[in-house]
Formats: sequence, C-alpha cells, structure tokens
Amino acid sequence: MNENFKPLFESIDFKNGLQLKNRVVMAPMTNFASHPDGTVSDEEIAYYERRSKGVGMVITACTYVTANGKGFHGEFGGHDDSMIPSFRRLASSIKAKGAKAVLQIFHGGRECPTELVPNGETVSASAVAKEGSDVTPRALTENEVEEMITAFGETTRRAIEAGFDGVEIHGANGYLIHQFFSPHSNRREDRFGGSLEKRLTFPLAVVDEVQKVVNAHAKEPFIVGYRFSPEEETTPGFTMADTLVLVDALADKGLDYLHVSLMDFWSEPRRGVDTTKLRIEYLLETIGNRVPFIGVGSIHTPEEAVKALSTGSSMVALGRELIMEPDWVEKVVEGKEAEIATTLSKKDQEKLIIPDYLWQAIINSPGWFPVVD
Ligand SMILES: Cc1cc2nc3c(=O)[nH]c(=O)nc-3n(C[C@H](O)[C@H](O)[C@H](O)COP(=O)(O)O)c2cc1C
Repeated sequence: MNENFKPLFESIDFKNGLQLKNRVVMAPMTNFASHPDGTVSDEEIAYYERRSKGVGMVITACTYVTANGKGFHGEFGGHDDSMIPSFRRLASSIKAKGAKAVLQIFHGGRECPTELVPNGETVSASAVAKEGSDVTPRALTENEVEEMITAFGETTRRAIEAGFDGVEIHGANGYLIHQFFSPHSNRREDRFGGSLEKRLTFPLAVVDEVQKVVNAHAKEPFIVGYRFSPEEETTPGFTMADTLVLVDALADKGLDYLHVSLMDFWSEPRRGVDTTKLRIEYLLETIGNRVPFIGVGSIHTPEEAVKALSTGSSMVALGRELIMEPDWVEKVVEGKEAEIATTLSKKDQEKLIIPDYLWQAIINSPGWFPVVD
C-alpha cells in the first residue's frame, strides 16, 4: 500500500468499547429493493455483502420506526417485532464479511409519499407543507410526539435483538427529526417548538430514548451515532449557526459519533456564519475532541479521503463511490488505486450487484452519478 494512505487504515475505538478496523465507512443509502411488506430482499442482501468486506462500518439504508414513517418505495421496515428476522438477515450478512453493521433509523414525516402511509395521512411537527408540495401533513399531538420518541427506542431494541452493532439516528435530509429542528416545519407552541432551544427538544429526546434502550437491552457494546444536515435552503430555515448549537448539545450526549450529511465535503456555509471557513471546519471546531466525527461528500479517490481526514475528521464515509467501486478498500490496500472506478458504465449492473430499482434510479437521474456508456 502507498504509505500516504496509511491514515485511512488506523483503527478507531468508540466510547462504548467497539473498535473499527479502519476509517472508511459506507454511507447510508436507500436502495428501493425491499419487499412491499417491509422485509429485506435477496438482491438487497447481495448488494450489501458485495460492499461489506473492506470498510470498517456499513451504515444501512434508513428504516422506518412507525408505519406512517415509510419514506420510500422498497424501504425496509423497523416498525414491528415481525421485522426482527429480516433485520437479523441484514445484520448477519454485513457482519459475516467483516464490517460493523449499523442500522439507520428514521421517520419520513411530511416527506413520505401519501401512497405509502396508512390512510394516506402524513404527519409532521406542524401542519406545514413542504415548499413546492400541496400535501399538508397533520401536526402530531403532544402524546403522539411522546409515542414517536418511544418508537425510535423500540426500533433500537429490535436492532439489538437482531444482532446489529449499532444504530444511526437519521436527523438529516429533511425528514421528521430534521422537521422538528426546522423553523420552517416546526411552528409548535408547546415544549417541542418555538425557540431554537425548544426545537432541540425532540432530537435530543430521541437520543436519550435510544441510549436508555441500549443501556437496558444491549449485552454487548452497541454504537449510537447521529446524522444531521448543516443547513436548510428555505426561509425560514435553520442556518449553520443554528446547527452549531445542535451539534454542541449533541457532542455532550455521550454518542459514539456524529455524522454530517453533505454532497460536497468541502462546501462553504450558506448563512448564519461567515464564509471564511468551510462547514466542516466550523463543525470540527465546535465539536473539539468530544466525539468522533464522520465527514462525507463526493470523496472518490484515496488521496481525497486522506485529505478529508487531514481536516480532523475521524472517519470518511463513501456513498456513490462504493456503489461504483465495491472493492475500493481492497484496491487501496493492494496498491491498485489506479484501478479504482470513479464512473459507472450502463453495462455494469450485474458486475456491481446493484438492485434493479436502485439501478433504474441511477441511470435515469442525470448528474447524480457519472454514468458513461
Ligand atoms: C442512492 C442514494 C441513497 C441515499 N439514501 C440515504 C439514506 O437512506 N440516508 C441518508 O442519511 N443519506 C442517504 N443518502 C446520502 C448519502 O449517505 C451521502 O451523504 C451522499 O450520497 C453524499 O456522499 P457521496 O458523495 O459519497 O455519495 C443517499 C445517497 C444516495 C446516492
């Protein structure tokens, strides 16, 4: 292996005692391949097995914690104990290849397609439609918010029983937890909304509940991570400065890691702080050494991954790159980095083991992936 890439292969110890063998993580990516009843499919298992050999940790696609949280066709379910055997299949297929298996837990809130949720009724923090949408969600009652927090804990218990190594709380990308943090979607006047501080209540309560369940049920060390988005585009919308307040609070929660959601690792803040520093720099400065941090976004080559680590990020997540190059880690280890694929050919589906619906999404969404003929 090229000496310059060694930082990628240092192990990392989490607070709970688990160790990752290296600093490369598979980013959570929805694959649209589960069965309509919410169980994982064979093609999904094959897709994960193909990508779990080299990386230290695989974060799965998101799973919904209640039936009215299903955000995607072909999303696998985590809302009921009947899903535990399906969870177990997924966890053991990832672990058998050598990576830690972390389940991303989620609720889609107002982003859920109406045809996927009971009675076509979407729910959110408040009855405010997403910009550009004519579907207005129903605001959850205070009791229902409490039940929702419990549901995140219940899915965590199922993940523990199924043998996952951890869960990642999906607080990013516009979904329910993000909706509670957002002044656009959260106009509540009870303890879950209002000031910035009150908009932290739901995200932090989910963290507390998940940790409570882990303490009560996990017999082995169990990872709890949290993913957040740095900013919103809408007005009103949370700014980089608001996110630093959230991240500061999360960093004191005793989590195993924090994970930003970005399409470009090197992006600049949009508003709330000045642009003399990158988003990543603001985040790392706020977090300090309190908790490991995962950076992500358009990292393709080992040079780029090492450069990302040099900012102080503890780990790097690869998303689209691991779809295009399942052998990324092995090729770096064997000094074959020149052979790493950073584009995708329309003939590659079978070779790369990519489920049908994910494949269709990839080749029909211009600009998403660098598809060549
Ligand atoms: C096909 C696809 C599905 C995704 N699904 C999820 C998801 O379920 N949860 C999530 O937090 N992020 C999801 N993302 C975002 C990725 O985790 C990642 O942040 C993003 O792709 C940028 O990283 P990359 O440039 O390495 O792909 C998805 C991205 C892609 C390309």
